[in-house]
Amino acid sequence: MSAEPVAEQPEVEDRSRFAGVLRFYDLAKHQEWQVRDVPWGEIPPVPEGKGSPQRLARRRDVWRSVVMQQLQADIIAVEMSAQLLNAAPDPEARLYYSTMVQDESRHTEAWLKLIGQVGGEGERDPHLDALGRMFLEADTLEEKVFLMQVFFERLIIPRFKLIARSSRGTILEDLCNRLAIDDGIHHGSGMAYERILLERAPKKVKAQLIDAANRMLPEFAAHALWRPKAREMIGQLMEARDRERLKTELNHGVRLAKSLGLDVSDVALPF
Ligand SMILES: [Fe+2]
Ligand SMILES: [Fe+2]
Repeated sequence: MSAEPVAEQPEVEDRSRFAGVLRFYDLAKHQEWQVRDVPWGEIPPVPEGKGSPQRLARRRDVWRSVVMQQLQADIIAVEMSAQLLNAAPDPEARLYYSTMVQDESRHTEAWLKLIGQVGGEGERDPHLDALGRMFLEADTLEEKVFLMQVFFERLIIPRFKLIARSSRGTILEDLCNRLAIDDGIHHGSGMAYERILLERAPKKVKAQLIDAANRMLPEFAAHALWRPKAREMIGQLMEARDRERLKTELNHGVRLAKSLGLDVSDVALPF
């Protein structure tokens, strides 16, 4: 045995709880795509339809408003994911968020390109702006992850599937399919990280999450049912079905909160 004093070993922290978050980092890298992979110019940007020039123009306005809503959402998501990257103290989460910033930025790039092909930017959805302010102004990291990744990213996925189903064979469908996968990862990683954050969060923070859910769900419902001028007519026809579908989605969100160990008995659904 050496007479040298043994240097004190720094205690190695057990980071195994973060394996779940790291798994989503690997998944995000694996799923990464490029805007140039999208078949631009090979298929129509949005469904074209048939009929008089006026009818065609109206249809195009409808699709343009659909694309505008997604563009608006992804620009907010760029800012939000950058906030998460800055606010998260854990190296595994920071590594993951560095990929999410890239995803949201790439989504924005693709929507910008697409909207340029269907007449340019249009009317903003005021409820989406309100949701954005809610995410960006939330006080704690727990609340930001909860509102953005546990709820919003999950609630938006069925909307992508819906749009994809009604825009077969177009760039819009292609993008919606890609984004549904990406947002599945954004949601999954948020669930994994929120679980860890809540292990060390004080009771007060958990109560704040329920309040935040109660502020967010009605605004999300208003966003999902919002129709710009271009879609008002179709909006009325679809509203009953939309409400039913939305109810199912919001209920799912509440179950997710429950699976994080939150007491959701005080969550009030807007319907
Ligand atoms: Fe996105
Ligand atoms: Fe996302």
